[in-house]
Amino acid sequence: MSPAPGPGAIRLRTATAGDAGAVAALHRASILRGCVGDYSATQIRAWLAVLTPAVYPELIASTSFRIALEDDAVCGFAATTVSEEVINAVYVAPFAMGKGVGQALVADAEEALMTAGRHEARLNATLNAVEFYRWMGYVDVGHASNRLSSGVAMACVAMRKPLV
Ligand SMILES: CC(C)(COP(=O)(O)OP(=O)(O)OC[C@H]1O[C@@H](n2cnc3c(N)ncnc32)[C@H](O)[C@@H]1OP(=O)(O)O)[C@@H](O)C(=O)NCCC(=O)NCCS
Repeated sequence: MSPAPGPGAIRLRTATAGDAGAVAALHRASILRGCVGDYSATQIRAWLAVLTPAVYPELIASTSFRIALEDDAVCGFAATTVSEEVINAVYVAPFAMGKGVGQALVADAEEALMTAGRHEARLNATLNAVEFYRWMGYVDVGHASNRLSSGVAMACVAMRKPLV
């Protein structure tokens, strides 16, 4: 029998609808800590406004939605649309940033893609996360823009990584 993970160990599991509340709170906190330097207050406000509670159960049901846990606290999540080879979202809680959680979530998403026979991972990186994805082996494809339902546009960078 393998030993139980020690304090501070990170483990990943597939999310359930019951995780939606914790994921929603984490998502907001992660944006407010990680993305504010690269987007205007108007953009951040518009972004948070579309992240209503209803978004999360739908996303958990429709994607490969994985969460990271540290001592049973949700400390990160990643959503992947395997059929489209797209990693839709990777967000880490402020208290867990810089400890390898993002790396573990992206590696896990890539594993899911490869297991499904996919040969590439694609994503639109927020400007603050571009260096992180380069570090993970992703290359820039070009500038892109996510237009929110309010009409506010968010600049991002399209990136890809061949999976072997
Ligand atoms: C970007 C993010 C997902 C990275 O997750 P993380 O757990 O903090 O990153 P990790 O600890 O796994 O970092 C792995 C490596 O990536 C690099 N890295 C991480 N964040 C970086 C950043 N913002 N800029 C440059 N390099 C970065 C580091 O070199 C690190 O290696 P090191 O530990 O040897 O220094 C996380 O900071 C986050 O949630 N940010 C806000 C939300 C966001 O922008 N998500 C992406 C949307 S597309």
